[in-house]
Amino acid sequence: MRIAIIGTGYVGLVSGTCFSEFGHEVVCVDADISKIELLNQNIMPIYEPGLEDLVSKNKLAGRLSFTSDLKSALMGAEAVFIAVGTPSRHGESHADLSYVFQVAKDIAPLLQENAVIVTKSTVPVGTNRKIKQFIENDRPTLKFHIVSNPEFLREGAAIADFMRPDRIVIGHESEYAKDIMAKLYRPLYLIETPIIFTSLESSELAKYASNSFLATKITFMNEMSNLCEQVGADIHDVAKVMGLDGRIGKKFLHPSPGFGGSCFPKDLRALLAIGDDHNIDIQILKAVVKVNEERKIDMVTRIIKKMGDIKGKTIGILGLTFKPNTDDIRESSSLVIIPILLELGAYVKAYDPQGMPEAAQQLPDIMCVDNPYKLAENADALVVLTEWNEFRALDLKKIKKQMADLYLFDFRNIYNPKEACALGFDYVSLGRNSILHLKNVMGA
Ligand code: UDX
Repeated sequence: MRIAIIGTGYVGLVSGTCFSEFGHEVVCVDADISKIELLNQNIMPIYEPGLEDLVSKNKLAGRLSFTSDLKSALMGAEAVFIAVGTPSRHGESHADLSYVFQVAKDIAPLLQENAVIVTKSTVPVGTNRKIKQFIENDRPTLKFHIVSNPEFLREGAAIADFMRPDRIVIGHESEYAKDIMAKLYRPLYLIETPIIFTSLESSELAKYASNSFLATKITFMNEMSNLCEQVGADIHDVAKVMGLDGRIGKKFLHPSPGFGGSCFPKDLRALLAIGDDHNIDIQILKAVVKVNEERKIDMVTRIIKKMGDIKGKTIGILGLTFKPNTDDIRESSSLVIIPILLELGAYVKAYDPQGMPEAAQQLPDIMCVDNPYKLAENADALVVLTEWNEFRALDLKKIKKQMADLYLFDFRNIYNPKEACALGFDYVSLGRNSILHLKNVMGA
């Protein structure tokens, strides 16, 4: 089957590449000519494990190509995917749909009879109907079909998420579109992936509701971890007990310095705006947004509580990205925590395996170093903000020798409190570092 994917951001590039891996003939289109040139030289615009190999394999097989020529891309395409960004509108919560509507405008004159237009971008309820209306106005005699097929992939695990998803949702209005989508996803159908066919509206809302629910789950655990610290409980034990209840589930119960990324914060704000537009006050999500913003600032409070005045102190940050296995620092807790540390007069150094080029743009006042041991040199404190695997395996004895003072703030709980304390670190983690708890783990 021949398909066109418009937009080569995270969703478009990963989806297009994976559809070509399924055996379809895919043309990815982007208005950014330099991006297309790089992709044609096999240079990826994002860091995503496994992507480069899959792109080059499918390009060689002649199933995947990149162009900025929309007309040639749409020629013969049975399905046209819209996968452009929907960031927050400048200065407010609503999703900015200008890129999506621009694509609708650009493709309308080029669509062939019976074209299926599939929206993969996360769009507010009602958007697909507006796209339909737009194309109808432009091409009143054309027979075409609209589909909502939001993507649930996680950065850093995007290919695995696309190839083995928990489910696929397809909002549609015609049997023809349903059949085309079923053909497209046939390899997933064969591995018994649940494919849920719904209305356009249910599909659109399901995406926002899923992301908002996950963000709520994390935030609930962050609040529970605060309570654990006060009562001497261990958040990981609490999470284990909770997660074994099939109704709750084991995932997304890990405490953190607040969630970030390109989706959760933006989608929460957009869902609140959708609620407001329909006079539904989604109070629980308002609390999640507030608690998560305060959470990031609270990490600084913990540092100061332990170290006192940090003016003139050297603080080393381990991890800048919002999660491991990505170079993305959008809405990362590092972007809130580091500016406050600098404001308070600390000297901030940082190391991140992938996030430093972007951080150099957004945090010009920090010094980036090329490995964790250099980061530890003369540092008064180390602060773990991202749980990169390479941080888990650090030689803490060697780290200790380099440091001027021994504060270790492990805001991703990657180290063993007993071991860190035994090495002499003044160790702080989340939801398990109360004096009562430490006494228990140290056997005192
Ligand atoms: C998310 C959704 O998971 C995905 O389905 C959707 O399509 C896009 O948004 P992503 O933003 O790539 O994916 O990363 P995710 O793994 O969900 O993590 C988001 C944030 O939550 C990160 O900052 C992460 O550190 C944080 N998190 C996650 C926690 O704080 N605790 C957890 O237990 C899990």
